[in-house]
Formats: sequence, C-alpha cells, structure tokens
Amino acid sequence: MSNILIIDDEKAIRKTLSEILSYEGYKIDEAGDGEEGLKKLREKEFDVVLCDIKMPKVDGLEFLEKSKDINADTPIIMISGHGTIETAVEAVKKGAYDYISKPPDLNRLLITIRNAMDKNQLVAETKVLKRRVSKVQEMIGESEPIKRIKDTIEKVAPTEARILITGENGAGKELVARWVHEKSPRAAGPLVEVNCAAIPSELIESELFGHEKGSFTSAIKQRIGKFEQANGGTLFLDEIGDMSANAQSKVLRALQEGKITRVGGDKDISVDVRVIAATNKDLLKEVEEKNFRLDLYHRLSVIIIHVPSLNERKDDIPLLVDKFLADVCADYGIAKKAIDKDAITALQQHDWTGNIRELRNVVERLIILSGKAITRDDVESYVLPKK
Ligand SMILES: Nc1ncnc2c1ncn2[C@@H]1O[C@H](COP(=O)(O)OP(=O)(O)OP(=O)(O)O)[C@@H](O)[C@H]1O
Ligand SMILES: [Mg+2]
Repeated sequence: MSNILIIDDEKAIRKTLSEILSYEGYKIDEAGDGEEGLKKLREKEFDVVLCDIKMPKVDGLEFLEKSKDINADTPIIMISGHGTIETAVEAVKKGAYDYISKPPDLNRLLITIRNAMDKNQLVAETKVLKRRVSKVQEMIGESEPIKRIKDTIEKVAPTEARILITGENGAGKELVARWVHEKSPRAAGPLVEVNCAAIPSELIESELFGHEKGSFTSAIKQRIGKFEQANGGTLFLDEIGDMSANAQSKVLRALQEGKITRVGGDKDISVDVRVIAATNKDLLKEVEEKNFRLDLYHRLSVIIIHVPSLNERKDDIPLLVDKFLADVCADYGIAKKAIDKDAITALQQHDWTGNIRELRNVVERLIILSGKAITRDDVESYVLPKK
C-alpha cells in the first residue's frame, strides 16, 4: 500500500484530499505546515507528497528545497491556490514533480499521483540497473595514495606495459586492474580473470592454455584456455604468487614469445594479450625463497602499482562509508541511512585488517542492525569488539 503525505494549512482541504485518497486505497498522513511536513518526512518513507504553497512557518517552496536533503527521490506535487500558479510553475522548475490547482479536479489529482509513483519506481529501478550494468565500480578516495594510483592508471593504461599490482587482501587490487583495462585501447576486448590460488596446481596449465581432447583422463573435449579467451584484451592473473613452478615457466614463455600451446597439443598459437598480475605476497621475498621465478617477476613488473591498506588512508573512510551506505541501501531498496559524525570517527579508529572489503561488510551490517541512523553506540557494539 502506498503512503501519501498531505501538507496544507487548511484543514478542510486536508480532509477532502484525505478522504478521496483513502477511498482510493492510499495510506494518508497529514501535516499542517512545511515544518511539520519535514518532520514527518524524516520519520517515514512516502511515495508521494502533496504540498500546499502558501503556508505559515515553512512554506511550500522552502519545504521543497529542504526535503531534498531528507529524501531527494520522493516526488512532490504542489497544490496551488489562485494566487500561486506562478510559484507552482517555479516549484516544478526547482524539482517538484507537478502541480494541481485548488480546488483539485479529482481525475487529474489521481492521474498525477499515479504518474508520480510510476516515475519514481522507474527511477529507482533504473538506478539499480545502472549500477549492475556499469562495468567498473567507481574508485572512491581523495587521499594522496589514491590520487597517485588514479594518476598512474591514466598514464599506464594506454600503453601495453605489463603491470604488477600489490597490496593486502581487500585493498582494491582487482578494482585497479579493471580500471586499467577499461581505460586502455583494449577496453572493447575481453577482460579475463584467473585466480591462480583457487585452481589446483595440476589443473592450472589447462586453465591457462587450454587442452586438446584426450590429453589427459578427464579431458573429454577440447578446451580453450584463458590466454586464448583474452586474445585482443587483458588477462588478469590474480594471486600470481600462488602459481606452481611449472605454470610459471609456461607463463614466462607465453609472455616472451606471445605464443602458447594447449596441453596435449603440438601447435603454437599466437595470442595478443596484455597481462596484469596481482598478489598480496611480497614477491621478491618469494623469489628469495625460490618460490617464484625472478625472470618472470621482471617480465610482470614493468610497472608496479601498490594499493595501500585502508589503515594507511583512513582519511578516505568518510567518503567510502557514504558510498557504501548509498550502494547497500539502494540494493535493499530503502532510503539511504544517515550516520552520525562520531560513528564515522569510531570507524576511523578501527583496525581494518580486511581493508575495503571489510569496511563494506561492516557498513552493510550497521545498516541492518542499527535504528533510524547509525550511531557511535552501534559501531561500538557491532564493529569494535572483535577480539
Ligand atoms: N577505492 C575504492 N572505492 C570503492 N570501492 C572499492 C575501492 N577499492 C576497493 N573497493 C571495493 O572493495 C572490494 C574489494 O576490492 P578488490 O576485490 O579489488 O580487492 P583485492 O585487493 O583484489 O582483494 P583480494 O586480495 O582479497 O582479492 C570490492 O568490492 C571493490 O569494489
Ligand atoms: Mg582480488
């Protein structure tokens, strides 16, 4: 059932509108002036607001303006008296959905309300869809390290240089890789990901280079590997520090010669692939400990982009929290939740071992568990005591 808020200082008008709309099945709240209207808007979600123009205390135009800070998406329909048509037109220019004249024509009133609701639903759906469709998430942050990373991406993306991305779990390495691809001339080509840590070592070669039918027991049909799939695009080798020695030497060959051979095959296949690798390990230490080939390391690390941990850029936390509040609430189809300043301060004091991924999960948890707004108490009870 849809909620409508009627704001008018004339009790008789509120009563008439309320009766008509209740009869149509809407749930009605009333307010006698803009100030009371704003209070109701803060307390509850409305699908449509009907708002008179001339009112004591806060008038219709001021209500319209202030309501945007509370819930920018709720459509507002102005109710215009004889002397206020011009103001009503101005209100529409300032973002009101439409206006109706007093005394309201029943049909026009109902149609306008229904259209406003339809439009609002479309806007909400479009927002969700847009976020699903848009290929790469925005990279949030204005701290020095993030600015430097964005700057580096701008410079290296247009080139063919191989890139090694380092950083802790959840710091945003994959996001960097996606942006490099997106801003490169290969953006129209595929971005193919391989998580080297997730694939058993005996299968990684077949995963990367493919295999011919019958080349080993379970190879019941031919398979195209990730290098071939990424032809013309970018291959993202995630967790490269976990790659087996055997696979390392084959990858090295592929990088040196631009050619691969399918497992069990005898043909060389040329591939045009830009490789971006990522790791949360200290690869040079792995080299020292003979777990990683030095020559491969050099091939991969023409450019190194280090993504700092969240603890090193806590200045970005307010922006990130704001973004995650918006994203998660949009996913849940609810209005964006407010968060107190000192709750954000408390989040900045937290030790973020799981980095941005952990922050996003924490924001989601707070949205679910907190009351009307997220408070410092919420942070203290749901986030901090982890030990
Ligand atoms: N600067 C940022 N702004 C907004 N979201 C970000 C940012 N950095 C990372 N994220 C988000 O945080 C999550 C973790 O990022 P990502 O997967 O890129 O981390 P990772 O370093 O690859 O982690 P892992 O080592 O665990 O694979 C993702 O949902 C990503 O979209
Ligand atoms: Mg990753």
